Amino acid sequence: MRKITIGKIPGKKELLEKLVAGAIPIKFCYPDEGGDKWDELRGNKKYFLGDREYKSLIRNLSKIKLSEPTNILHLGPGNGIEIPAICSAFDFKKHAYFGVDISQRMIENMICYHNLELANIKYSLFILADLESKGVLSEICNLAKKKQHQNNLLLITGQGVLCSNPLFLRYVAASLDKNDLAFITIEGDDLQRRKEILQTYNLREVENLLLVGLRRADIGNGNFLPTLFNEDIHQAEKYFETDSGEKILCLSSYKPSSDRQFEVTLRERGLQAEFIDYFPQSHTYATLCRRSENV
Ligand SMILES: C[S@@+](CC[C@H](N)C(=O)[O-])C[C@H]1O[C@@H](n2cnc3c(N)ncnc32)[C@H](O)[C@@H]1O
Repeated sequence: MRKITIGKIPGKKELLEKLVAGAIPIKFCYPDEGGDKWDELRGNKKYFLGDREYKSLIRNLSKIKLSEPTNILHLGPGNGIEIPAICSAFDFKKHAYFGVDISQRMIENMICYHNLELANIKYSLFILADLESKGVLSEICNLAKKKQHQNNLLLITGQGVLCSNPLFLRYVAASLDKNDLAFITIEGDDLQRRKEILQTYNLREVENLLLVGLRRADIGNGNFLPTLFNEDIHQAEKYFETDSGEKILCLSSYKPSSDRQFEVTLRERGLQAEFIDYFPQSHTYATLCRRSENV
């Protein structure tokens, strides 16, 4: 399997700069042993969030009709749990697959678990990159077009955390040409089920993943605080409090509160929804977007 790196993968210096502002973005947790911690979390049956977003993916993949050979760019594939669904939805004799992740370990795990499906893809490329770094996604999208086809489809599934960074969806919009598409699945908020939604982030496996970032920043003793919901910006937030009383934001995950709110957020970032599907049973959204005409 071919693998390349695009841009710079942020290291300890960048982590400490973020820490000064009181946060450890989760992207610092995924590399190295973090890839295995994600695996443990994704395999936990009580990680209901992953299951909800996966159901939304299955429910909506068949709505994406690709008339031309397309580069399918899977952003943050994790351990590849979505690979079987993606491979049965698209004909990879015709389309090309690009897997993009910040974590080398994650890519290795995915290749190891899904070797057989990946071997049946005619063209695949794995790219190690930080998608929250300006210009990187546009560079990846241009590279895909140079290497393979003239249309791109971005798959952004189970990425509430990435979408809580307002810059990320702007980078997505900036990377799309007129005929390109972005498909997003995301768990939403539901006032009636808020407790259950927030509970997921209190799982021991989530905390073990976040501890990777805290250790990397040399943060020692302390405790995680119960996950909160920030109504102003529609996101779940999880803090760690050190023994000296310092509060560090370790996780924030965007949760649209309605179709309308999701649509407004997409529009503000430069994306125009072709459809938004809401699945009430699992309070998840799926949308297929294009770049707004006025961007
Ligand atoms: C929450 S997991 C979702 C994985 C998969 N889509 C799923 O639902 O199981 C997030 C994935 O995105 C990757 N990721 C997070 N931040 C990233 C960034 N800034 N650049 C590239 N990949 C990132 C992580 O390494 C991880 O594989």
